[in-house]
Amino acid sequence: MNTRPEIHFFIGKGGVGKSTTSALTALFLADSGKNTLLVSMDPAHNQRDLFEADFSEKPKQVVQHLAVKEIDTAHWTAKCLKETRENIRKTYLYESAFNLQDHFKVLQYSPGLEEYALLTAFEDVLGRASDKDAVIFDMAPTALTLRFFSLPNVTLVWLNHLLTLRRQICQKKEIISKIRIGTCEMERDRIKEKLKILIGRHTCLRDRFLSEDSRIHLVMNVDRLSFSEAVRIKQRLADIRIDIDRVVVNKTQPGKPLGKLPETLEPHRLAVFPLASGTLVGLQAMQEYLEAQPESFADLLKRPLSTGQGS
Ligand SMILES: Nc1ncnc2c1ncn2[C@@H]1O[C@H](COP(=O)(O)OP(=O)(O)O)[C@@H](O)[C@H]1O
Ligand SMILES: [Mg+2]
Repeated sequence: MNTRPEIHFFIGKGGVGKSTTSALTALFLADSGKNTLLVSMDPAHNQRDLFEADFSEKPKQVVQHLAVKEIDTAHWTAKCLKETRENIRKTYLYESAFNLQDHFKVLQYSPGLEEYALLTAFEDVLGRASDKDAVIFDMAPTALTLRFFSLPNVTLVWLNHLLTLRRQICQKKEIISKIRIGTCEMERDRIKEKLKILIGRHTCLRDRFLSEDSRIHLVMNVDRLSFSEAVRIKQRLADIRIDIDRVVVNKTQPGKPLGKLPETLEPHRLAVFPLASGTLVGLQAMQEYLEAQPESFADLLKRPLSTGQGS
């Protein structure tokens, strides 16, 4: 039993082929006997079109060794809101004094909620994936995906700051209580404990993104807009010390040169996925593609390179 599956994220500009290349890779891994889960994190949920099947939160077996599931963002957002409300209620017993009811009403419009919901769903997927060898994530549009990857970092900055503030408050409370009732021991502070749990949770998530068995594949096409967006994505991820594993140049055409890849995209990380001659929809078309392009998958799945930024 594998307790820590390898993870592959497919990210990139809309329309470049994230859903297609992630589905193909999932099929390739399943074909090679790896117990694989393909997860659609993009609310557009194109996997159902590619596999011509209905998917939901419950993984559905599509071929031997491959199950597919869709993240229901609305479900995870509602769950996160409910948990936040309960946590605030439990932590602040003096709820009415702060008029928290009004706060709860606007919580649903909070910035960050969408990526928080996605991150919670991601944690849940991994928590249930101990029987998997590989989990493939077909990611949401770029802006949301970048916020998803940076959320643990951003949250840790806030949490550590809050913990420092809370420690200062506790020290002051302790001084006052010593003066008033002469006790030396303060009872354990509930808020401090909660903050420490959250710090542990977000540290795990951040470390998972940085770990060697999480591999991010940046999908692009051979055109200038796609090049530019890929460079920006790579830079934004490098800012939070996350490295790209492969640059997947998808829909290449025979006889049409790739052009000069920007240096930042590190040409040695390329995996080329040629344009299929027909429509790449449905199991049969995808299986035919796998058979015709084994070297694309060999390049994509090579073990992480030792050279390159941040590694
Ligand atoms: N290698 C390929 N060969 C032929 N068509 C492709 C290939 N990759 C993607 N496509 C087509 O390009 C379109 C966009 O692909 P899709 O995977 O939905 O992109 P994304 O998920 O990045 O938005 C779809 O019509 C898909 O069938
Ligand atoms: Mg897609």
